[in-house]
Amino acid sequence: MTQKREYKQDYPEKTLYIPGPTEVREDVIEAMCEPMFGHRMDQMTDLYTTIVEDTKEFLDTDNDVVVLTGSGTEFMESSILNLVDEDVLCTTCGSFSERQANVAERLGKSVDTLEYEWGQAVKPEDVREKLERSETDYDVVTCVMNESSTGVRNPIEEIGDVVAEYPDTLFVVDAVSALGGDYVDIDEHDIDVIFTSVQKAFAMPPGLAVCVVSDDAYEREVASESASWYGGFQRSLDYYDRKGQTHSTPAIPVMLAYREQMKHMLEEGHQSRNERHRKMAEYTREWAREHFDVFAEAGYESQTVSCIENTQDIDVAATIEAVSEEYDMVFSNGYGSTLGERTFRIGHMGEHTVESIEALTNAIEDAADL
Ligand SMILES: Cc1ncc(COP(=O)(O)O)c(C=O)c1O
Repeated sequence: MTQKREYKQDYPEKTLYIPGPTEVREDVIEAMCEPMFGHRMDQMTDLYTTIVEDTKEFLDTDNDVVVLTGSGTEFMESSILNLVDEDVLCTTCGSFSERQANVAERLGKSVDTLEYEWGQAVKPEDVREKLERSETDYDVVTCVMNESSTGVRNPIEEIGDVVAEYPDTLFVVDAVSALGGDYVDIDEHDIDVIFTSVQKAFAMPPGLAVCVVSDDAYEREVASESASWYGGFQRSLDYYDRKGQTHSTPAIPVMLAYREQMKHMLEEGHQSRNERHRKMAEYTREWAREHFDVFAEAGYESQTVSCIENTQDIDVAATIEAVSEEYDMVFSNGYGSTLGERTFRIGHMGEHTVESIEALTNAIEDAADL
């Protein structure tokens, strides 16, 4: 049984290179320390309308935006509840995309899967073939943008174009760990729902999830007989339309941090942020190929999380420990029991730069004697 462990005051500060949470700017942390105000006060309307409209501007989308207290998993669940009457096709290629299928099963939906080995990417032509050959009219196709367990970036743009050929099928994308660090034109590729958690490439403290919702998705939910209460798109969007606030009490301090960080993100711009992340990913892959190998299928490597194949058989756990002890930097082991020691992962997202990533790779070289 778990015992209480006292929270102390003297933890050494560590630089985070895990696939989220990631580093948060000091002014963003400080923005949370404002006197509390009520979620039905005008101040809240100012705050919430600012972060929603700033998010639309940053993501360059005409679709609606919901910022909800919770983590990305909330939208994994509610997008199924809101949009799937019966049948859903879940593409799976690693732990998080499998979780999406599992969530849909637990909600009692009829789940069909298009499965890939961990490390492989979902291919648009396979999705097309599946949709063409299937007798089922799927309500939704799901896909993960960035499979954080394997470091695969799926071609969601091309998959979105394929799904768009089926007007009754909506496309739902889990973009946790990608959105904000990897450019995607949501409207151009008919992505009906795309969601993320703010503690990933948005580089904010955890506590909020962001979801971009198309008109078709909104209308599907309105026409359906059941939907999520808390994560219902209609409830959040109607409340926003009427009052510019959230339907229930949000994590106000994290929203204050969001407002501050969005200023930085708008100043940098989505494309420049994308470019900075592209350079970090390129650097990390080059380093990985020099010393180890990259786990993801070639051509589909993630721009925010590199999953590195431990070809040198280093002691991953001991290296993580040594880097943490000696350099106060934290990176991740491989995901779960399948990839635990076979791979390790570096999160190059949010506020990181090529220089800060290089500091980590130097530390790993030192600790693992590469
Ligand atoms: C691709 C992906 N989906 C979903 C999740 C779950 O996100 P959260 O823990 O914010 O609910 C994660 C978390 O790492 C993720 O990487």
